[in-house]
Amino acid sequence: MRMARRIENLPPYLFVEISKKIAEKRAKGEDIVSFAIGDPDIPTPPHIIARLCQAAQDPTNHRYPETAGLPELRQAIAGWYERRFGVSLDADKEVLPLIGSKEGIGHIALCFIDPGDTALVPDPAYPVYSVSTTLAGGRPYYMPLVEENGFLPDLDAIPAHILKKAKLLWINYPNNPTSAIADLNFFNRVVEFAQQHDLAVCHDGPYSEVTFDGYRPVSFMQADGAKEIGVEFHSLSKSYNMTGWRIGMVVGNAEMIDALKRVKSNLDSGIPQAIQYAAIEALTGSQDCIQEHNAVYQRRRDLIIDVLNNIGLEAKPPKASLYIWAKVPEGYTSVDLATDLLEEIGVVVTPGVGYGKNGEGYVRLSLTIPNAALVKGLSRLSGWHSTRSKHKATK
Ligand SMILES: Cc1ncc(COP(=O)(O)O)c(C=O)c1O
Repeated sequence: MRMARRIENLPPYLFVEISKKIAEKRAKGEDIVSFAIGDPDIPTPPHIIARLCQAAQDPTNHRYPETAGLPELRQAIAGWYERRFGVSLDADKEVLPLIGSKEGIGHIALCFIDPGDTALVPDPAYPVYSVSTTLAGGRPYYMPLVEENGFLPDLDAIPAHILKKAKLLWINYPNNPTSAIADLNFFNRVVEFAQQHDLAVCHDGPYSEVTFDGYRPVSFMQADGAKEIGVEFHSLSKSYNMTGWRIGMVVGNAEMIDALKRVKSNLDSGIPQAIQYAAIEALTGSQDCIQEHNAVYQRRRDLIIDVLNNIGLEAKPPKASLYIWAKVPEGYTSVDLATDLLEEIGVVVTPGVGYGKNGEGYVRLSLTIPNAALVKGLSRLSGWHSTRSKHKATK
């Protein structure tokens, strides 16, 4: 058997490796506390589940769905964008439901990237932007996200010869893994830059509803001319704790949406309709759950930040997203620190370098950890620090 080179060169997905390690340790009876994956521990709100169960009983929902999704779902998405961001969308041409946003993020590269083409990808970043580029035969050009620049890419630093080959520009705010935020000025600048260099922009914004201290992110679609050059991926996963149901969406430029629909109609058969009805309920029903979830995450954020800063893992409280991006203490790489914490105290954090070269020097901690585990994990981290300090003092 001879596999394609694209498979041979495909790195294992970061979290598959981490989950494997955790499962091995747990199988040996070790008590592991994981701050690794951004997967909400709070259940999907009951009104959404009730609608899902009801729709599952209806035989019309047992058959193949349409790739384009139910018209009512596309309208619910357009309605949500109008209410939340004041952005008007044509529900038939500018909205496409996805089997989770990861699916659309993966497939859109096939619409733009031919072998040899370049996609501009942030570093560090959610790994799918670069992997999908590579799977399509293209090359990612990494735009460093550094603290001095608020973890925004420096568009003017991209060399001219790269811009000639580049067709896609990826951005993501509120950001994973750095939890950085962007404002409308930045998005307007991105549109201007994309127009100048004939780039299609993909903004990935699944964390726009996971916010703290009253912060309200803007949508890329609010930028002047955004719809002419780009799309925004979004998801119900993080806003409504629906990661397991697999439902997201992409909105914006009609030509880009149509190209993605063509690819998808040849590869998948849409989203199970009962899940689509659950999504309609989520988007059009009471939004109180969002505030409630955010209050829980904000309390956890404050507890984690406090401990991290006390133990020498400097971190700023994020305004949005499910993550804390903490600096590793001197003398450690991000992998060293993650390995020591796992081996010595059974605590899992994600090494920043897993998100790209510029993630080195940081670890990511997720806020989606149940309260009891969080308290246990933080107490282990504090204990680890005092043991280390004592050890250093006696050396
Ligand atoms: C930045 C970013 N984009 C997209 C996704 C995918 O979300 P989903 O496929 O659940 O919609 C994630 C998930 O963690 C993410 O962090």
